[in-house]
Amino acid sequence: MKVLLGISGGIAAYKSPEVVRSLKKRGHEVRCILTSSGAKLVSEHALAAVSNQAVWTSMWPADGHMPHIELARWCETLLVAPTTADCLAKFALGLADDLLTTLFLALEPDRAVVLAPAMNPVMWQKPVVQAHARTLQERGARLALPVEGLLACGESGIGAMLDPDALAAAIG
Ligand SMILES: Cc1cc2nc3c(=O)[nH]c(=O)nc-3n(C[C@H](O)[C@H](O)[C@H](O)COP(=O)(O)O)c2cc1C
Repeated sequence: MKVLLGISGGIAAYKSPEVVRSLKKRGHEVRCILTSSGAKLVSEHALAAVSNQAVWTSMWPADGHMPHIELARWCETLLVAPTTADCLAKFALGLADDLLTTLFLALEPDRAVVLAPAMNPVMWQKPVVQAHARTLQERGARLALPVEGLLACGESGIGAMLDPDALAAAIG
C-alpha cells in the first residue's frame, strides 16, 4: 500500500524513522511529510535515509509543483504519527496553513486516514482535544489511540504514541 506518513511536532516524532521501517517491513511504500515543529524533533535526513525518498517539508517547492495535491493523489492511506493537539484541531476545523493540513483537505474521500494522537495526558484529556478527536472519528478517520506510559514531560498517564510495530499493524 502507498502510505503517506505525516509527522507533526510531538516528542514521539523521534520514533518516526522506526515507524517508516515497520511500515516498509510490511511491504508498504512510504513517503514522509514533516511539519516545521516535527522537524525540530526528528531529522529530515534520517527519514529520507530510511524511506529512500525525499521528505516533504514545504508546500512551496521552487519548481512549481503542488505537493499537497500530488501527494494526496499518490497515497492510499494517510497515517499521521504523532498527531499533535494542534494538528487534530486543524484537521477538525479545516484549517490549512501548511503542507500536511492542506493535503488533509485535498484527500479524496476514499483514502484511509489513521491518526495517532500523542501528547501530555492533561492535554489529551482536555474537552476541546477530545471533541476534535471525536469529530474526526465521526467523519471517518481511524484513531490509533494513545496508551498509558511515562511521557517525556515526566508525567505518567494516557498520552503515549503506540509503538511503531503496532502502528504499522493498525494500517492493515
Ligand atoms: C519538546 C516539545 C515536545 C512537544 N510534544 C508535544 C506532543 O507530544 N504532543 C503535542 O500535541 N504537542 C507537543 N508539543 C507542542 C507542539 O510542538 C506545538 O503545539 C506545535 O505548534 C505543533 O505544530 P504541528 O502540529 O504543526 O506540528 C511539543 C513541544 C515541544 C517544544
